Amino acid sequence: MTDQPDLHQQLLDALTARGSLRTEAWKRAAATVPRHEFLRGGFFRPVDGVVPSAWEPVLQGDSGWLEACYQDESLITQIAGTILPTDVRGQIMRMPTSSSTLPSLVLRMLEELRVESDSKVLEIGTGTGYSTAVLCARLGEENVTSIEYDEDVAGRARTSLARQSMFPVVVTGDGLLGHPASAPYDRVIATCGVREVPTAWIEQTRPGGLILTAIGGWLGSSELARLTVHDDGTASGPLLSGQVNFMFARPHLPPPLGLLPDLNQGKERQAVIGADALTDWTTRFVVQLAAPNAQRLTMERDGHTEDVLIDVDSGSWAAVYEDHGRWTVRQGGPEALWDAVEEHLGRWQAAGAPPLEGFKVCVTPNGQTIGW
Ligand SMILES: C[S@@+](CC[C@H](N)C(=O)[O-])C[C@H]1O[C@@H](n2cnc3c(N)ncnc32)[C@H](O)[C@@H]1O
Repeated sequence: MTDQPDLHQQLLDALTARGSLRTEAWKRAAATVPRHEFLRGGFFRPVDGVVPSAWEPVLQGDSGWLEACYQDESLITQIAGTILPTDVRGQIMRMPTSSSTLPSLVLRMLEELRVESDSKVLEIGTGTGYSTAVLCARLGEENVTSIEYDEDVAGRARTSLARQSMFPVVVTGDGLLGHPASAPYDRVIATCGVREVPTAWIEQTRPGGLILTAIGGWLGSSELARLTVHDDGTASGPLLSGQVNFMFARPHLPPPLGLLPDLNQGKERQAVIGADALTDWTTRFVVQLAAPNAQRLTMERDGHTEDVLIDVDSGSWAAVYEDHGRWTVRQGGPEALWDAVEEHLGRWQAAGAPPLEGFKVCVTPNGQTIGW
C-alpha cells in the first residue's frame, strides 16, 4: 500500500503535469496541506450506473478512503443540506450540498487569482476548509477570510483548520453579502457558483483588485470569470477557458417549479433552432444568456420528447420537439422564450460563434452583462 506522503506527492506531480499547479509558491503551499485531514468525516462516492445519482458513504478507515483523498476528484461531504457520510448506511439519492472541490480546479483557481505574497483574500464557500488552508499556507492566516453558509460545515472546517494550526477568520453567513468587517480585500474567490456577481464583492474589493468566480445558470453551463474592480465601482473581465461544474451559492439555486403551466396551450410554429442547441456546453451557455431565469425539463408527450424551458417568475415557457426531422416550438406566457433564444443564438452564430473564452463580463450598478 502506498503511504500518505507518497499519495500526496503523486497528486501534486499529476496536477503539475496537467498545468493546474504552475508556480513554485502554490506548489509549496499545496505540499504543506494534507487533504485527508479535511475529509476525516468521510465522503460520499457515486454509485455506478444509478440514474439519478445515488451516493454511498466512505468513512475514514474504509478501504480506499485515503487513496480517494489524493485522487483528483471532487468528494461530496454533505447531502440535502444536513446529511453526513456517518449518517447513512447503504445508499442515498438526494442532491449534494457541500464537498471538497476537485483539487485540480482548486489549485488552478488559486493560480488564476494572481495573488501577491501579502494579498488579503475573501473566500466564499469554505466547505471542508481545504482550499482555505492552502490560501493560509501561501498568504498567512491573517490575510484570509472565508465565509460558509452552513453553520455546521463552517464549524467542522474551523476544527480541521485548527488541527493544522491555522486560524483564519471563518464566518458563517451568506457569502453573497461579503464580509465588510475585514474589507477591503485584494482578491475575492468563490468556490460556489453564482448567476450574477454580487455588488457586495465589488464594493469590498479595492480598485485594481480581482474577483474570481464561476458564473453560470440553471441550464447547467458555467465558466470561470476573472473581473478587475475599477475606480468607478464597476468590474469587468473575461471568461477563462474550461468548463467548470460548481454547486450554486444557495441563494442562487433555482426556485421550485411549482404547478406546471398548461403545455397544451400556447402558440406553435416551426423552430429555426432545435432543442439540440441545449446539448452542447457552449451553445447552452449562450442560450442561458437569452433566457436567464429558465429551467429545463424533458418530457415524453404524444410520442415525442419535448424539451421544456420554464421561467417560474414570469410564467413564460417554451416546449421544443422534433417530428420527422423538423423542429417545432410551442410557447406560452408573457415572453416568447424561444424567440429570445433564437435571436440571441442567431447573433452569436452570425458573429462566427466565438468561443466562451474571451466573452466579457461587465458589472455596473445597473446589473451584469455577458457578451462576446
Ligand atoms: C464546493 S463546496 C466548497 C469547497 C471548498 N472550498 C473545499 O475545497 O473544500 C461549496 C460550499 O459553498 C457553500 N455555500 C453555498 N452557498 C453559499 C453562500 N451563499 N455563502 C457561503 N457559502 C456558501 C456550501 O455550503 C459548500 O460548503
